Amino acid sequence: MTRPEILWYVIPREGAYPWEPAGRRRVDLAYLQQLGVAADRAGFDGALFATDLYDVWPLASALAAVTGPRFKPLLAVHPGLVSPTQLAKQALTFAHLFGPDRLRFNVVNGSTEQLRQAGLQLDHDERYELSAEYWSLVKRLTAGEVFDHHGRFYELTSAGANLRELAPIQGGKHTPLWFGGSSAPGIELAAEHVDVYLTWGEPPGPLKEKLDRVRGRAAAHGRQLRLGLRLHLIVRDTEAEAWAAADRLLDVTSPQTYARMLGDPDTREGEGWARQFRQHGGRVPAKARELETYPNLWPGMSLFRPGPGTAVVGSTAQVVERLREFRRLGIDTFILSGNPLLEESYRIAETILPALRE
Ligand SMILES: Cc1cc2nc3c(=O)[nH]c(=O)nc-3n(C[C@H](O)[C@H](O)[C@H](O)COP(=O)(O)O)c2cc1C
Repeated sequence: MTRPEILWYVIPREGAYPWEPAGRRRVDLAYLQQLGVAADRAGFDGALFATDLYDVWPLASALAAVTGPRFKPLLAVHPGLVSPTQLAKQALTFAHLFGPDRLRFNVVNGSTEQLRQAGLQLDHDERYELSAEYWSLVKRLTAGEVFDHHGRFYELTSAGANLRELAPIQGGKHTPLWFGGSSAPGIELAAEHVDVYLTWGEPPGPLKEKLDRVRGRAAAHGRQLRLGLRLHLIVRDTEAEAWAAADRLLDVTSPQTYARMLGDPDTREGEGWARQFRQHGGRVPAKARELETYPNLWPGMSLFRPGPGTAVVGSTAQVVERLREFRRLGIDTFILSGNPLLEESYRIAETILPALRE
């Protein structure tokens, strides 16, 4: 097996339990740069910058300025909010200022409600059509092509002409595309256009079935994808301590947060979300372990935080064993997190990373 790529996670609103005001640290640039430097020095290969209240570009730029060339930011971007030409210009500017081969895009399909606010009146499946056209244009532009294009969503004339002086820094290679989506059009987009297919955590059985489908569709397009898994880790010296930490997360969550997360239609879109919801059925347990779907796998995080909701909970040896089990399914990339992000970047780097990289 090749050495896995292991990323950490950066988000401005963070802390011990950032979904509650009491568990959140003040948003502060110096702190966030400290977090980037910590993840870099601890040995992570980069970090995912997810969409959130704050825009990813200024944040990732500020962290790229204080981290080394090995530390690669993965920026979540909705297709269609800026033109493909503008996004390519931003990517190439980033490459000139912070070094080539650092930036990657995480393609986000997004939620219908949120995107309507931005003027994008497309439903889930249509957004994947836009996505396919948009990202194939961004790939050609960041690789330095100059071309005309007549498509369903875009009409471009001499696209890339304004990037001629910027593009050679990437040596003809496009900015890599990573992507997570579990619906049929999502898997088709991945098979045809992206470089790394990402998924939230699931028990090995259903995960293998999905990864086989992704590999099969990619092969039908004559392509092979890297496969990545996004997981939250709750690692302690003993199993009992780890589950006690998971219990505490349930205890500190307010009834309002549970009600919002389980009732808010904005958080309920997409096949990925549905697969995650089915793992806990919307039930808040008295003890975290009641929701253990497979040894050490806990889908309970999605009861209180949006997005990825599966944690691996256990002692160091147990968490390493679970991650190795995912490696054997073909996972070659991990995006990990733990709260607070600063302290947990060190704990996880010191306990888990050496064994996972063996
Ligand atoms: C690893 C990973 C990271 C994601 N990051 C974001 C994000 O930053 N912002 C967002 O809105 N959605 C994010 N998503 C969610 C997908 O974009 C979302 O599920 C999409 O709507 C796919 O829908 P589908 O599962 O129905 O294909 C992420 C998904 C995965 C697997």
